[in-house]
Amino acid sequence: MTVPHVPGVHPAWLPPEAFRAAGARRVLVLGDDSALAATVRAEVADACERHGGAVAAPGEACDLVLALPSAGDLPPAVRALREPEPGAEGFVLGRADGVTAVLADDPAGLLYGWFEVARLGEAAFGEARPATAHRPALRRRMLDHWDNIDVHPVMGQVERGYSGGSIFWRDGALRTDLTRVRAYGRLLAATGVNAVAINNVNVHTAEAHLLTDRLGEVAAIAAELRPYGIRVHLSVSFASPIVLGGLDSADPLDEAVREWWARTTERVYETIPDFGGYVVKADSEGQPGPFAYGRSHADGANMLADALAPHGGVVYWRAFVYNHRQDWRDRTTDRARAAHDHFAPLDGRFRENAILQVKYGPMDFQTREPISPVIGAMPATRLAVELQVTQEYTGQQRHVCYLGPMWSEVLGFRFRGPGEPTVAEVAAGGGLVAVSNVGDDPYWTGHPLAQANLYAFGRLAWSPELGPAAILDEWIGLTFPGGGELVRGTLHEMMDGSWETYERYTAPLGVGFMVRPGHHYGPDVDGYEYTPWGTYHFADRDGVGVDRTRATGTGYTGQYPEPWSQVYESLAECPDELLLFFHHVPYEHVLRSGVTVVQHIYDTHFAGAEEAAGIRLAWEKLAGAVDPALYARVQERLDEQVRCAEEWRDQVNAYFLRKSGVPDARGRRIY
Ligand code: GCU
Repeated sequence: MTVPHVPGVHPAWLPPEAFRAAGARRVLVLGDDSALAATVRAEVADACERHGGAVAAPGEACDLVLALPSAGDLPPAVRALREPEPGAEGFVLGRADGVTAVLADDPAGLLYGWFEVARLGEAAFGEARPATAHRPALRRRMLDHWDNIDVHPVMGQVERGYSGGSIFWRDGALRTDLTRVRAYGRLLAATGVNAVAINNVNVHTAEAHLLTDRLGEVAAIAAELRPYGIRVHLSVSFASPIVLGGLDSADPLDEAVREWWARTTERVYETIPDFGGYVVKADSEGQPGPFAYGRSHADGANMLADALAPHGGVVYWRAFVYNHRQDWRDRTTDRARAAHDHFAPLDGRFRENAILQVKYGPMDFQTREPISPVIGAMPATRLAVELQVTQEYTGQQRHVCYLGPMWSEVLGFRFRGPGEPTVAEVAAGGGLVAVSNVGDDPYWTGHPLAQANLYAFGRLAWSPELGPAAILDEWIGLTFPGGGELVRGTLHEMMDGSWETYERYTAPLGVGFMVRPGHHYGPDVDGYEYTPWGTYHFADRDGVGVDRTRATGTGYTGQYPEPWSQVYESLAECPDELLLFFHHVPYEHVLRSGVTVVQHIYDTHFAGAEEAAGIRLAWEKLAGAVDPALYARVQERLDEQVRCAEEWRDQVNAYFLRKSGVPDARGRRIY
């Protein structure tokens, strides 16, 4: 095992300097013969070689010990640090008598502890620290890749990817050098991620074969990610028995179909014994599913769960099921209702190893949505919450949009009010999943600052209570070592509020979309208004917004428990930022903030575009303070962000001025 360093590829949050503090010291590893313990030894050796420290042998003096207490005698100084219990994948970190200790029950805990020491830097070797347990709050912390093997004619190689091609495949074949995949695994492990699904949920022809005759490619990727504790998963087509097996049905209750999945899954585990499981998008946007056979989604998910269970695998079954061929004239069909309508009645009918993967909002990864009511409606089902790290609807990695604050809000939301479980707690036994924003771009994420989103996702999946600014601070410290206060302060200035800035210049008050159809970049207020996709704002000369109330609308508010069902139903109580998601109101309706809806639209759009210009200006302070190539890459993206924000401002403002006829109270230029 060697630590991967890939020439020409930005090291993201793991530059060699991140390990200076630990690597300059005497480090003892007491591990077992597992692959993960070997990784920890390799990491320590690599850091010590670079920074002048030494790998200590048992019994020798040391400054840092990383130990499975079962693996040997602990140095006397740290024996007292054994309490509290680390727990699965967790570790205890403490410092006594000049020795810092990471103690874990399993080697994964040692690896995560090693990266925590890197995060602390010199602070890990200062004052004595009481022993503190660090345990992942969510059991499964997973990234979904929407990578294709082939380049799709419309979607490109990575669906909704803004960072180049796939890190796994190139020219229709597995890449010959997979060092970068291992480096990716290392970056993810440093944030706490422990699972990856390697291919697009829309499973096309070539990719379907990864399950059978191209399984060797999956095994090769798994071999690269395994040393960093990451289990590989595969998106599979529900129609695989037909497409790959030559059967005439994929009916989940058909014995021959069940048998096919059992045998196929057995072969997967013969090849990849620690394979994680399947991800399935069924009966959604044209993908095949159990509805074709008159079966429920529980029937479909359970069939796969049964095939996986003997091997310890899980199926992630996506709840993103809705009618994408809706008639825009029909005001009764509400896409927001769909997932709850389909899945809530199935609560309690899914197997133990079936995880229902629910997007955080009821629509589709918008900049602002209420939390999906499905997450609060299925206490007898294992749930995973799905986020989108790839910025499909949040600026496509051309705009700075730090999503930590949005995800913190999502994870901290309580369906039944104060004192009741948070979303993170509801998902603890299932997991947190996100669509990855990584590609073969030298900066991994196209926009170098979008790396912070990937970092924040992993950290929040481990510790949902961490503050987004604190996470950003960690990321800055690791990524720009020696950057000092100028870099730290400037990046906070640019990024802390960037999600809200993006929200200000795009679709207002939670109404969503207004993006260009197809690629979803830039403004097109009516782009989806008369299409079958179910994403409407219903603006006319009198008002705007979607009436989702029980009293007069689609009844969606009734999918929430109290207090939210009442809060969202009430025009007076509904939070401003979601007003147009829940209510259709006249332009002169006065928000809780005291301004009218239309004036709010003008004000926020002027402010948002101005803030985007401020972000660009702030970056100029870092000329000469960061790597010139990185500086130039960010600057080029900021130019585009400012241009695009102005386009959004002008289109949205002009649209609402023309619809409403209400002039801007401040007389600014609207076209
Ligand atoms: C969005 C996205 C699609 C994707 C889908 C999904 O609609 O635009 O590209 O396939 O989400 O999550 O399945």
